[in-house]
Amino acid sequence: MDEAMNSPARFPADFVWGASTAAYQIEGATTEDGRGPSVWDTFCAVPGNVRDGDSGEHAADHYHRYNEDLDLIADLGLGSYRFSIAWPRIQPTGSGKPNQKGLDFYRRLVDGLAERDVRPMATLFHWDLPQELQDRGGWENRDTAERFAEYAEICFDALEIRDWLTINEPKTVVDCGYRFGSHAPGFKDDARAFVACHHLLLAHGLASRVLHERHPGRRIGPALNLHPTYAADDTPEAREAAHHQDGLENRLYLDPVFKGRYPEDTLRWISERGPMADHILDGDLGVISEPVDVLGVQYYTPVFVDGKGERVFLHERAQAEWLEIYPEGLHDILVRVQRDYPGVPMVITENGLATVDGVDADGRVRDERRIAYLRDHLNAVHRAMEAGARVEGYHVWSLLDNFEWAEGYSQRFGIVHVDYTTQQRTPKDSAFWYRDVVKSGELR
Ligand code: FCB
Repeated sequence: MDEAMNSPARFPADFVWGASTAAYQIEGATTEDGRGPSVWDTFCAVPGNVRDGDSGEHAADHYHRYNEDLDLIADLGLGSYRFSIAWPRIQPTGSGKPNQKGLDFYRRLVDGLAERDVRPMATLFHWDLPQELQDRGGWENRDTAERFAEYAEICFDALEIRDWLTINEPKTVVDCGYRFGSHAPGFKDDARAFVACHHLLLAHGLASRVLHERHPGRRIGPALNLHPTYAADDTPEAREAAHHQDGLENRLYLDPVFKGRYPEDTLRWISERGPMADHILDGDLGVISEPVDVLGVQYYTPVFVDGKGERVFLHERAQAEWLEIYPEGLHDILVRVQRDYPGVPMVITENGLATVDGVDADGRVRDERRIAYLRDHLNAVHRAMEAGARVEGYHVWSLLDNFEWAEGYSQRFGIVHVDYTTQQRTPKDSAFWYRDVVKSGELR
């Protein structure tokens, strides 16, 4: 190995180090202070939807313990904390007058971050749609996008936050929520899924416009889970299948936002399955392509497909079986976004690994696999930056173990362990490792 390979990867001094969470996954207190029901409360109540019948009712009790959690963030030396705002706390029925107590919670959180010199990055929608909006058609109803812009305006005006994210992973809502039925609202219907897709993107654009009009100088963008897609073998069939899959994974979301048009091949495929195109009204793509100030990139897994378009796994899989461990994919997707959608600053808003962790008798949580995963992925980020990708920062998923959607509490993604009986927090070895990386700016 030459000298360069041995020297540690060093990140720029202004690189932002952070951690991510989402409201429904950590807050608990689902009926407190006027919060209305969300689609996830409804979904969890149906037996069989979530492993072990779990729900976010108590989660990590962050709603009551946020001060302790803010201290953890400060102890790790983080510069940024990405969290989400629960729409049903702000507007319990999804429209109308804001609920003061809901806003107050996030005000306290933002003040607490400021006191600790940590920058907030707020996601407006991390899947907890007010149930009443779902009852009126949810994301299939264009009005939900309008309601979202109204909710966003309330948040923008009430909270002193510079960096905003609109929709967390629209693709996961489309795929898991509407195509595969594994997430709320639990449908299995391609025709409905892509109508919802268009309205999710429209909601993103409408809210971005509101921020730009009302609060110039602040920044906003979507948080997209990008899955670099590869042919699993060297046949023309596999290459073609990979291109098609790339449309569904990446271009369907990136192209309308950055280029103001849907990818033709993907739109054709969708149109054979349902009426999405009928819902694209004049002017919509102009709204959706409202300039993005910061793109949230979330990366967990690549997708390799064979000539039949089937996903195949060529590398080790994690406890979360959809997650194929392939750090190179993060490098590739960052470089690709930089190449195909130039000029946008990127922030990694999620990246992480679930492992089966427990607290040992000596009080330590030895999560070596997570450390290896994070190190390899940060190395990939560093290489992408050397290749010209404009990456401003990195947020590990997740600060805390939490409610992992349909997997309930069975998958722990946190760098801090949570005992759900006592709600005790224990930083894992990965948290101490991350703290050292953050402090030195170097990967060893
Ligand atoms: C992402 C979600 C996040 C978490 C991780 C593991 O898709 O945005 O809430 O569940 O996966």
